[in-house]
Amino acid sequence: MHTTPHITFANGDRLPQLGLGTWRSEPGEVASAVQAAVRAGYRHIDCAAVYGNEKEIGAALAELFDAGEVQRSDLWITSKLWNDAHAPDDVAPTLLQTLADLQLDYLDLYLMHWPVASLPSGRLISLDERPLLATWNALAAEVKAGRCRHIGVSNFSAKKLADLVRDAAHKPEMNQVELHPYLQQQALVDYCQSNGIAVTAYSPLGSPGRPAGLVSGDDPILLQEPVLAEIAAAHGVTPAQVLIQWALQRGTAVIPKSVKPARIAQNLAAVQVTLSADDVAKITALDRHRRYVTGVFWVTEGGPYTLATLWDEDLG
Ligand code: A2P
Repeated sequence: MHTTPHITFANGDRLPQLGLGTWRSEPGEVASAVQAAVRAGYRHIDCAAVYGNEKEIGAALAELFDAGEVQRSDLWITSKLWNDAHAPDDVAPTLLQTLADLQLDYLDLYLMHWPVASLPSGRLISLDERPLLATWNALAAEVKAGRCRHIGVSNFSAKKLADLVRDAAHKPEMNQVELHPYLQQQALVDYCQSNGIAVTAYSPLGSPGRPAGLVSGDDPILLQEPVLAEIAAAHGVTPAQVLIQWALQRGTAVIPKSVKPARIAQNLAAVQVTLSADDVAKITALDRHRRYVTGVFWVTEGGPYTLATLWDEDLG
């Protein structure tokens, strides 16, 4: 078995760079996917409360532990705090619920899922009303309490990260964002990596299974990109494997989602591919700043968020 490369945190903890994504893994199929992944050699599972499948993942992990197939200390488990639990007093009970669902005593990493706050009713509230720093400080208290080993954020711009880096005593350790050749975000990756913030690439395959609300007719299909097909053919691998190895060679963690055992194994085998400088140059040239997970669901008529304020980008 080929071991995956790692990202080492300041305290020496090691995050296996390749993990299993579980967004849109249905409750009825996620347990077998997690077990297939662990049996194939995955040691990193990326979860979130909002995915609605943490109970099933917890049951799958408990079976693996009980059967002695893997130990808790050999796994890296990430989960994420949903937008409706940003109130500082809600953070501990929400994390405890995730731990109960996953049947775990601690998480390796807990992320703020979006820089977006809502009430339990779903009504969006502004970041002035619910400042990110207050939520962040409540996450830091969870590290002190021993319920998670590391904390970070997801979907944060460099600007929002820089605010946290400036204001927070506990520095963010991870930013999980959409990254693939059509959305390379090199400046954001550079900002993170030069400030000791690890990066995880989500939707590394271009999120072909994203919900209909995020699909529009003119979306380019990443897995059908001819340049990737050419590189894949030259190495005798698949385009998905090229995408995963490209993410690994950038120094990011990467969490391709699959519920199919053959693809789960194929995606792990991507660690054995080596892309040449020429391959990487061809992939770099594919960048077009194209998001699949656009964040449009946070933009409501008269609401507190716009795409420009969400991503801190001038969208012209
Ligand atoms: P499935 O779960 O049926 O295998 P992303 O991580 O970018 O969101 O991509 C996940 C999507 O890509 C899922 O729809 C998944 O479907 C599909 N997928 C995962 N691995 C592969 C692969 N090796 N080749 C093609 N499609 C894949």
